Amino acid sequence: MIAAAPGGSADVPAEFLRALRELHLVDADEPVTGQALAGGVSSDIWRLDTCRGALCVKRALPRLRVAADWRAPVERNLYEARWMQVAREAVPGAAPRVLGQHAALGVLVMDYLPPEAHALWKDQLRRGIAQVPTAQAVGTTLGRIHAHAAKRRDTLAAQFDTDRIFYDIRLEPYLMATAARHADLAPALHALVRQTQEHKLGLVHGDVSPKNILVPAHAQAARFLGRPEPEGMSPVLLDAECAWWGDPAFDLAFCLNHLLLKCLWVPPARSGLLACFDALAAAYRPCVDWEPPQTLEARAARLLPGLLLARVDGKSPVEYLVEPWQHDLVRRVARQLLRQPEQQLAAVRAAFAGALEAAAEALAPPAPDAATGSEAPG
Ligand SMILES: Nc1ncnc2c1ncn2[C@@H]1O[C@H](COP(=O)(O)OP(=O)(O)O)[C@@H](O)[C@H]1O
Ligand SMILES: [Mg+2]
Repeated sequence: MIAAAPGGSADVPAEFLRALRELHLVDADEPVTGQALAGGVSSDIWRLDTCRGALCVKRALPRLRVAADWRAPVERNLYEARWMQVAREAVPGAAPRVLGQHAALGVLVMDYLPPEAHALWKDQLRRGIAQVPTAQAVGTTLGRIHAHAAKRRDTLAAQFDTDRIFYDIRLEPYLMATAARHADLAPALHALVRQTQEHKLGLVHGDVSPKNILVPAHAQAARFLGRPEPEGMSPVLLDAECAWWGDPAFDLAFCLNHLLLKCLWVPPARSGLLACFDALAAAYRPCVDWEPPQTLEARAARLLPGLLLARVDGKSPVEYLVEPWQHDLVRRVARQLLRQPEQQLAAVRAAFAGALEAAAEALAPPAPDAATGSEAPG
């Protein structure tokens, strides 16, 4: 969840103060305090306390805090602000309210969503709480945002003309970098890059990952009590720095990829995570009205193994898979699917689930010998 950076309350960065003043969100002499939020990989992100209440202020970094040298233009902060505005038009509450964006300083100011009222989906999954209604709500929200944007292509395509940024921070570090390590699969991975670039059908978020999704506590409580969810209580999507006019199948595959990988991270939640995979895909599908849903699904099903492999062998491997057998399992399934692509998401999920089951059997302690009560050899 949200926490102060080591050192807690510290000097507020000067750019943040300047941005707040120039956006007329604070007065010139107003005291502003605050603290850095945890989890900022590509940005400095702070909670700032002002006379108008707590604000969340974010500034894109030119170099990401990952092991590989990974640079990205700071104007992505502007596209993030734009994405949030479109998402909120589509689904009220699907993104934080944007209070201002200072283009010259690359600073975005938005509502601060307090941790008492929101859980980070990744934190829930880490604790084994994999709830189907949450996955359904994520699928519906994402689908509604995509459908809303697809109808506004005439204005939005030009506002998210970010081909270069998306290539630099998504297609290159994930798929091209992976192709460089799997030379035999390079043609398949390069074809996925082309597939993604050539289907300019909608507004892509680009980082739909449980670490960027807040689940409102009220909605969760309502679901738990079997009550209708309150209006405006959709999951909140954060971190839209990769926003791009491109292939919406990327977002669907990207999010489903995380649900598969987390089966290896939180083994007791495996069946819940696989149920979330199905629920998210099923909730998304009826929203697809800009093209035949099965066509989009086929692109997502082909892309998903490329993203799986990328999170092990690309420039941004997931931090929670550390055992060599986990990497081998992901490689085995992904490589097989890249060689023989599936057209349905359920088939990709089934291949992954099958490999998990086989690994669980192989890793299980030997069964006691029925006749002697002693452990079987080997
Ligand atoms: N508007 C917000 N209100 C409260 N917390 C937020 C808000 N936006 C982001 N956060 C918290 O800060 C973390 C990092 O923010 P994010 O936008 O994802 O930055 P980064 O691009 O560095 O990952 C999020 O995971 C979330 O915990
Ligand atoms: Mg993030």
